[in-house]
Amino acid sequence: MKRILVVGAGGQIGTELVPHLQKNYGKDNVIAADLRDDMVEKLRANAIGEKLDALDGAAFSELVKKYKVDTIFNLAALLSAKGEKNPQLAWNLNMGALLNSLNIAKDNNCAVFTPSSIGAFGANTPHNKTPQDTIMRPNTIYGVCKVSGELLSDYYFTRFGVDTRSVRFPGIISNGALPGGGTTDYAVEVFYEIIKEGNHYTCEVPEETYMDMIYMPDALNAVTELMEADPSGLVHRNSFNITSMSFNPRELFAAIKKRIPQATFDYNVDPVKAAISASWPDMMDDSCARKEWGWCPKWGLDEMIDDMLLAVRKKQQDTARV
Ligand code: SER
Repeated sequence: MKRILVVGAGGQIGTELVPHLQKNYGKDNVIAADLRDDMVEKLRANAIGEKLDALDGAAFSELVKKYKVDTIFNLAALLSAKGEKNPQLAWNLNMGALLNSLNIAKDNNCAVFTPSSIGAFGANTPHNKTPQDTIMRPNTIYGVCKVSGELLSDYYFTRFGVDTRSVRFPGIISNGALPGGGTTDYAVEVFYEIIKEGNHYTCEVPEETYMDMIYMPDALNAVTELMEADPSGLVHRNSFNITSMSFNPRELFAAIKKRIPQATFDYNVDPVKAAISASWPDMMDDSCARKEWGWCPKWGLDEMIDDMLLAVRKKQQDTARV
C-alpha cells in the first residue's frame, strides 16, 4: 500500500484513519475524498482533499487514475439505525459505493478495504463467542448490505483476484468526528453529555444489552495490520471478527460514575435500537484474526474511559475558548 484513496473520509472512521495512514505512508500518499463540500474544505487543512460522490463511478475512477492509487478504503455508508429510516437509500449508497470500489479496483489493480460490522449477524446467530463462520441472517438493511458486501468482496477476490480484505467492526468509540445513526453510538455520546452541566445522559439502548466495542486506536491498527498482512496466512478475507471489549450500558455507566460521582443516567429506550442491539452478538470470537494476521487489541474498558474523558474534556475546553 503506497498510494491510498479514502472514500467517505469525513466520517467517524475516516477523520482518524487519514492521519493514521499519513503517519504510516506519508502525507503525499493519502488522498482524502468526501461528498460534502464543507468536509472537503476541512480535510484540505491537513491532507490532499478531493470532492467525490462514491456513486459516481466515472469520477471515482478518474481520481484513482489521477493519483495512481493502489489501495482503496471504502468508508461511505449509512449506519444501522439511520438505514432503517430509509432502506432504499441505505442499499443504494452502501452497495453502490462498494460495487464501484470493487470494479475500479479490478480495472486499476488496487486492493480494497471495506468495513463490515457486528451488524452482519442476526437474531439466530450464536450470541456468545460468536464464531467467525456462522449463521448470518441479519434483519436490518445495514446488515443485509454488510453480508452482501462480504460475499461480493470474496467473489471479487476469487473470481478476479482483487485483494479485498475486511474486518467486522464492533461499535467504535472515538473522540474525533461523532458517529451518526448507529446503534452503538450511545457509547460515544455518553462521554460528551456526561461532562456537560447537569452531568446527565439518557440512553436509548436497553441497560442489559451487551455489544462488542473497540477503541479507535485499536480499530486503526486493525485496518493497517490486516492490509499489510502476508496474504499466504489469510484463510479468511471478508470479513474477520475483531473485538476488544464487550459491555452493556449499565456496566459502562457504572464505570463512568466511579470517575464522575455526580453523573446520573436514565433510559428512554428506542424500540428500533432495542431490536437491533438485541439481534447482534454479545461477544464475538476473534481467534481467527488473532491467528491469521496477529490481531491483538491494546485498549480495555478502563483505559478507554480515562482516555475518552480526557480527550472530550479537552475538546470542550478548546471549544469554550474559541
Ligand atoms: N456502529 C454500527 C452501528 O451501530 C455498527 O457497526 O450501526
